Amino acid sequence: MPSHADFVERAPLRRMEPLAAHTTLRIGGPAEFFYEPQRPEDLAVVLDRLAADGVPARLLGGGANTLAPDGGVRGAVLHTGAMRRVFRDGEHGLRVWAGVTLPQLVRTAAESGLSGLEPLIGVPGQLGGALAMNAGSAAWGIWDEVVEVTVWNPQGGGSGGGAASRLEVLRRADCAPGYRDGRLGACIVLEALLRLTPSTPAAVRAEQERLLRRKNASQPVTLASAGCAFKNPAGDSAGRLVDAAGLKGARAGGAEISAVHANFVVNRGGATAADVRALLERAEREVLARFGVRLERELAIWPEPEPRISP
Ligand code: EPU
Repeated sequence: MPSHADFVERAPLRRMEPLAAHTTLRIGGPAEFFYEPQRPEDLAVVLDRLAADGVPARLLGGGANTLAPDGGVRGAVLHTGAMRRVFRDGEHGLRVWAGVTLPQLVRTAAESGLSGLEPLIGVPGQLGGALAMNAGSAAWGIWDEVVEVTVWNPQGGGSGGGAASRLEVLRRADCAPGYRDGRLGACIVLEALLRLTPSTPAAVRAEQERLLRRKNASQPVTLASAGCAFKNPAGDSAGRLVDAAGLKGARAGGAEISAVHANFVVNRGGATAADVRALLERAEREVLARFGVRLERELAIWPEPEPRISP
């Protein structure tokens, strides 16, 4: 058990917290230890302490793009949901904590008359996860707007120096983000500085609304999903391929390949992680057999614990 008593004020602890309450798919068993740090420096302190105690830790941001295990998580889950502050930085910069939700971020950008983040309209999740996976549209990713990111690096200085010894500021020029992959390795995002383009609130809102209308028409926005399940293969669309394989509406238990957009798996009620894995495997098998294309998962699939966690 982590020696949590002395940092519980920095990061309130819950025991056996159901992850289904924190994922957009509404799936996931209990986390043995569930911490909610209040500020970036608190997250670093908790990560340092868990590392020193040898307690495995997983980061959960907005719970989008994540398939949490039915059997729960052994060790600690750190939830960034309370780290929700955004600060103006100069004329067109925003300093954003990892737990700021993408809806909050696009709203702040619009209110500030700052352009650049419009493609994130309608995307669930939080800044930390968005940077880890370079969230965005097919042709644009959030890293396009990044100046620098402050991370906790598990491979950093470590012993004796406390949390600060593992903190690093990565300049955009030193990073190599790719399509749907921030390429941060095991580093954990604490906060980021974004540099946007001066515009007006009305112009930013108009562009956001235009993109939102398009998404509302083409994606199952009102159902529980984790966003796109597969990355787009070069020059093609995973949704088009799964659709052409005839899988729209295919079911496994409570999980369904959306009839609106075939790259979304939706929870029609009572879906389990095993149901979702079964559907993903079926889509991969059939797309490979019919079109010779090996789909790559965008959805982060957390491993099932053995044995499952029980209260
Ligand atoms: N299509 C079908 N059937 C489907 C779905 C799509 O034939 O069931 C066709 C569409 O008609 C279109 C093409 O496939 O010709 C591309 O579809 P769409 O415009 O919906 O874009 P996408 O490539 O499927 C990408 C991102 C989305 C992002 C949208 C809009 C990926 C994997 N997906 O989707 O990102 O919202 O562009 O910008 O890069 C996500 O990453 O989680 C995600 C939802």
